[in-house]
Amino acid sequence: MSTQIIRPARTLQGSLAVPGDKSISHRYAMLAGLAEGTTRLSNFSTGADPHSSLACMEALGATVVKQDAGAIEVTGVAGSFRQPSGLLDCGNSGSTMRMLSGLIAPHPHTFTLIGDHSLTLRPMERIRKPLSEMGAKIDLTDGHAPVTVHGGPLRAIDFTTPIPSAQVKTAVLFAGLQAEGTTSLTESIRTRDHTEHALKAFGATLHRTAAAGDQPAKLSIPGGQKLKAIDATVPGDISSAAFFLCAALLFPDANLVLDSLGMNPTRAALLDVITALGGRIRVLNVEEHHGELIGTIQVNRGLTPASAPFTISGALTAQVIDELPVLAAIAPFTANGLIIRDAQELRVKESDRIALVAQNLRAMGASFTEHPDGLEVPGGQRLHGAQVDSGSDHRIAMAFSIAALRAEGDTEILGAEAAAISFPEFFTSLDALAHR
Ligand code: S3P
Repeated sequence: MSTQIIRPARTLQGSLAVPGDKSISHRYAMLAGLAEGTTRLSNFSTGADPHSSLACMEALGATVVKQDAGAIEVTGVAGSFRQPSGLLDCGNSGSTMRMLSGLIAPHPHTFTLIGDHSLTLRPMERIRKPLSEMGAKIDLTDGHAPVTVHGGPLRAIDFTTPIPSAQVKTAVLFAGLQAEGTTSLTESIRTRDHTEHALKAFGATLHRTAAAGDQPAKLSIPGGQKLKAIDATVPGDISSAAFFLCAALLFPDANLVLDSLGMNPTRAALLDVITALGGRIRVLNVEEHHGELIGTIQVNRGLTPASAPFTISGALTAQVIDELPVLAAIAPFTANGLIIRDAQELRVKESDRIALVAQNLRAMGASFTEHPDGLEVPGGQRLHGAQVDSGSDHRIAMAFSIAALRAEGDTEILGAEAAAISFPEFFTSLDALAHR
């Protein structure tokens, strides 16, 4: 286990292009693996998680060639995965385990998906239910990995997601793409739509009926579709950029430019939260690639926010779910604090993120209230450097490295190597941007 010492900073200035988006990299890797032809990807995530998806694609018969950083070619299996000779190792990646289960379920083989200790603790019943309704047989142990998928021909279903989860939605759409009949899916709360854009990019047909009155939006995907390889650039990961956007809130003269950043509207609610907490964001340009928006933004301190704490709850919680640890970690330094509710899903991520944020805020001397579904953190606090624990969770390691920039004294991050799950360059980028 490696430790990083984070010293307080005077300010944060400079420009940065964060590595490719983890969510989009997973989807491109998986669909490229299934498609016919060779997909050429640039700015593929450097994080360990999407590389777990690539390794699984190789085990399933695709050919993966990694050129320099971020340039990857995947030659797909043209619709027929082979029986892997061993286990499909998903590492720390819930996205790989859940989405891949849907992608492989229509193939007439037996697949066993395993993961590390953290992944083995995460709930998998949420994918077993719809996939078994479609006709696959899925074995779990007490609702958890290992996941054994006994694949075969699937039938379409009409499914409503009981919890907001883009991974579950994706598992159903990936299975529906290859099932017999048209699968439809209704989301109680809208989640990130990278799967919808990626499927269309690879040539699939997919419809979205907009919400009307009491009727929520519905997705439908005809089965029996074939995919064709693409050339694509992965936008920068806004969830990785979140650490630096939050850091910029901590210093009156911070000035940061983020290049080639993914700004998909189902992910960009974070920018509204940053603004509400006192940031000023200028969008310098935006382009579209395969349905995904990519832009350059500048962030610095803006107007003093309203006098009440800012509340993240309901649909907004689902939209910024991965950014909540860093938002909570910097909340003590904001003018009026932050209330996070409806975030019970945070307890079943790579760690119990509510408990770990609480433990680390406490170590740094913050006052706050913990709820089963969130945290209330008053603003205007002073924190001291402390020993904090990542709990082997990448987002916790990075979140508290940012809070450490404004603490009094040094902070020691135990298990700092976890950052490499999504952002191996994090500590180098932090050193380059933080002025001491
Ligand atoms: C992801 C969806 C979210 C998110 C995860 C990535 C995805 O998980 O927390 O980091 O790429 O679809 P859930 O689907 O469990 O909400």
